[in-house]
Amino acid sequence: MTAQILDGTALSQTLRAEVATRAAALTARGRQPGLAVILVGDDPASAVYVRNKVKACADHGLHSVLEKYEATLSEEALLARIAALNADPAIHGILVQMPLPKHIDPHKVIEAIATAKDVDGFSVHSAGTLMTGLPGLRPATPYGCMKLIERSGIALKGKHAVVIGRSNTVGKPMALLLLQANATVTVCHSGTPDLARHTREADVVVVAVGRRNTLTADMVKPGAVIVDVGMNRNDEGKLCGDVDFAAVREALGPQGFITPVPGGVGPMTITMLLVNTLQAAEA
Ligand code: GUN
Repeated sequence: MTAQILDGTALSQTLRAEVATRAAALTARGRQPGLAVILVGDDPASAVYVRNKVKACADHGLHSVLEKYEATLSEEALLARIAALNADPAIHGILVQMPLPKHIDPHKVIEAIATAKDVDGFSVHSAGTLMTGLPGLRPATPYGCMKLIERSGIALKGKHAVVIGRSNTVGKPMALLLLQANATVTVCHSGTPDLARHTREADVVVVAVGRRNTLTADMVKPGAVIVDVGMNRNDEGKLCGDVDFAAVREALGPQGFITPVPGGVGPMTITMLLVNTLQAAEA
């Protein structure tokens, strides 16, 4: 018997239906939730991501605007657009797709977004609310991972959670969310010797490295919950995560849980962006 699947597609459908209901209620009161997405340059992957975000808004009754600019757009001009969107009452969330062209400072751009509209949760203010446990907007990917873990029915209190990766967008906020849920949290990274020593002890492992086969069958405890944030291509060009999925699923046994790639964390990220936009509009 192999581990149970944590189905991000199915959970997304449930959560998105709730978003649509709440969005319709707000719209009926004259406050349709609105998201502005800004794309600078012509990175093909970014173009796909922003298209999916805007489509998800349209599909669930949120208003959205997509602003596309040439890679030569000046930092000053981008900051001016953000200032205008900050003042626009029809817009409750602002997302500037990363990465930005090299001549634009991403920190300056993120900090220019009004705190109440920071639906990516990337600003110093949002990070501070997470750090201190105050209410605020949470980064969509780790927020989605938390929802998937909750879905597994595992109570996190007292559990040992290992996060692999320490990025500002996934690893660090993930660790803080797990800590807030009363897990005992270990953060591993490229400088961690003997990664397996930590993961073998873990009740929950969140892998956010961006390298396939980072987590293999010999590295997990039977019955653990494995959340795979990776998005890689294997030798055949097929989408795969950071976890050696089939072998790890087998090693976890029937009490374990694992997210697939695709169909795990991926769909949850856009779903939580919708949830954040709704929360910003309800505030
Ligand atoms: N680029 C890749 N993922 C993200 C994300 O979640 N938000 C933004 N703004 N840019 C990204």
